Amino acid sequence: MSHSLPQRVRVVEVGPRDGLQNEKRVVPAVHKIAFVDRLTAAGFEHIEVTSFVSPRWVPQLADAADVFAGITPRAGVTYSALVPNLFGMDRAVAAGARYVAVFTAASETFNQHNIHASIDESLQRFEPVARRARDEGLSVRGYVSTCFGCPYEGGVAPEAVARVAGALWDLGVVEVSLGDTIGVGHPGSMWDVLEAVSRRVPLDKVAVHLHDTFGRALANVLAALESGVSIIDSSAGGLGGCPYAPSASGNLATEDLVAMLDAMGIETGIDLGALADASLAMEQELGRVLPSRYLSTVRGQRALLAP
Ligand code: HMG
Ligand code: MG
Repeated sequence: MSHSLPQRVRVVEVGPRDGLQNEKRVVPAVHKIAFVDRLTAAGFEHIEVTSFVSPRWVPQLADAADVFAGITPRAGVTYSALVPNLFGMDRAVAAGARYVAVFTAASETFNQHNIHASIDESLQRFEPVARRARDEGLSVRGYVSTCFGCPYEGGVAPEAVARVAGALWDLGVVEVSLGDTIGVGHPGSMWDVLEAVSRRVPLDKVAVHLHDTFGRALANVLAALESGVSIIDSSAGGLGGCPYAPSASGNLATEDLVAMLDAMGIETGIDLGALADASLAMEQELGRVLPSRYLSTVRGQRALLAP
């Protein structure tokens, strides 16, 4: 049977940001830097390194500038950071970021909890960020959270997602990432949301950002790939969640994503062994077992081979 699937997928590794923002314990900058460098060695094209947000709200990433300054960038790799406003943009530019991401949501209540603004207020906040990016030749990614459901409001209409995605696209973002913040999406809602969004944003500029609460993330990846998406966000080891979405569990684990794409013959450029090294080192630092299924097999094999 023939299926229309991309030959190559660009994986955006969000573990250092989406993963570590959600840890109870603040990981020291030196370990965050080592994590990003190991991810670089694993072959990612795009790593989301940190966030220049308020340290009062997300103390886990208060060291964003130190982390950005400490990593060893490799040519051709994009190292990005979240910025919620112009102040965050100033901090990111001062730290040397050349690619930033703004973030809002498709549901009002989540957005109020997350960034203390209505959706329209947040879009207004992003206008000077986008202007500054244009002036300085930086790229901006736009995130839309709660595209498949909101922890406070429940269902979210695909048209509401398309409106916000379209508004970000009109601001000049280079791609729009659609977040399933609490992991309630399924292939049916993926098709519906992408169909609505495709009327406002070309699907080759759309990423999906999946949390794996109910184990549906890989099914949702397949639905997105079949719909024309070829950019997938995921998190090493399945680290992650969102501090302002109480029911959000870990992100789709990058190992599980890459292992499936490898098996399907879809290229990512990522070395699974090197990626597992990065995740296992972070797992040791955190002192807890990360949820990736693939990683559990690597852990088992390495334990068997250990002297
Ligand atoms: P605010 O407190 O409502 O308002 O913050 P403010 O703008 O009046 O600022 C208050 C204080 O924060 C001031 O300091 C500002 O200077 C400072 P004070 O005078 O009290 O000492 N401040 C900042 N400091 C550092 N960097 C900044 C910054 N901006 C203001 N950029 C704000 C509003 C948006 C800043 C705050 O609510 C915030 O930082 N929120 C962060 C939320 C966050 O990071 N959430 C997680 C990321 S989103 C996510 O995980 C979803 C995603 O993964 C997709 C998905 O899964 O759906 C992307
Ligand atoms: Mg997320």
